[in-house]
Amino acid sequence: MTAKDTLEKIKKEFTEMIAGCGDLRSLEDIKVKYLGRKSELTTVLRSISGFSSIQKKEIGQYANLLKNQFAEKIKNLQENLGASRAKSEAKKIDVTMPGIAARKGTIHPITRVMNRINEIFISLGFGIAEGPEIESEFYNFEALNIPLDHPSRDAFDTFYIEGKQLLRSHTSNVQIRIMQNALPPFQVIMPGRVYRPDAVDATHSFMFHQVEGLMVDKDIKFSHLKGVLSCFCRSMFGESILMRMRPHFFPFTEPSAEVDISCIICKGKGCRVCSGNGWLEILGAGMVNPKVFKAVGYAPKKYTGFAFGMGVERIAMLLYGIEDIRLFYENDIRFLSQFV
Ligand code: PHE
Repeated sequence: MTAKDTLEKIKKEFTEMIAGCGDLRSLEDIKVKYLGRKSELTTVLRSISGFSSIQKKEIGQYANLLKNQFAEKIKNLQENLGASRAKSEAKKIDVTMPGIAARKGTIHPITRVMNRINEIFISLGFGIAEGPEIESEFYNFEALNIPLDHPSRDAFDTFYIEGKQLLRSHTSNVQIRIMQNALPPFQVIMPGRVYRPDAVDATHSFMFHQVEGLMVDKDIKFSHLKGVLSCFCRSMFGESILMRMRPHFFPFTEPSAEVDISCIICKGKGCRVCSGNGWLEILGAGMVNPKVFKAVGYAPKKYTGFAFGMGVERIAMLLYGIEDIRLFYENDIRFLSQFV
């Protein structure tokens, strides 16, 4: 058999083998057999030195051509077989494998506390009202008897936007909107976001949350206010909590009070959280100033009512022992995931 015949025979054999090859392992055997150091093709190439120079060129070229063709065919088949193996493996589903658990979200602590406050007042018969965060001076100040020279109307204490618009500094704007649209009797709470240009530190933020309350009827007295608030404090902080009211001033209520609870940490003995005096201030309150009723057009002397307002962040910080208000807004999952 001439060298050329041998090469033809190898080519034929190889083509048949490749056509019949269906898996990567036998393909590897084919590779060794036809391209390996001991392959027939290699033997032919090695024996070439004994040929005439014309033959050398012809046989050498042909043998090298075959070598390249073989290598190419093997490579292609290898890729095809590899891809279909990956496919068939992907098809296999191990039903006994544990699933990938979806990470469960949690309710943000501010939302939790706000929901809790809302629930307590709903259980006392209050409704919920919301209003705009971008407000006019009338709703945020004038109708609430806050005069032009009041410090809160300074640009340092309120975010003014274009024109005479501002970001509300309390949710009391909703009180005015409700009273303009409804006649007593009613009792509502007004949860929402408020804004003040305070420098941010551990206890201040330029944005925070409030819940205010308003109850108006023909014969509402200070004792109703006290009853509602002490019920709220006990529901929120526990039955043994004590509440006290200290005289204070707010333009929109008269008389006004600040409301304290006995310190939930030291139970009134005095500790770092209550600055040693045993009490924690949690809200402001009072009887609606008749000037406010006048501003919304209610008949003079017909109605009386009370209002109160609290900061949600402050209450959440006390309840959960959080020392820095900024933690609420940083979206740090290590902090947030603790409130489950
Ligand atoms: N609006 C007051 C504040 O933001 C809170 C308050 C509401 C006080 C109602 C008394 C009555 O500080």
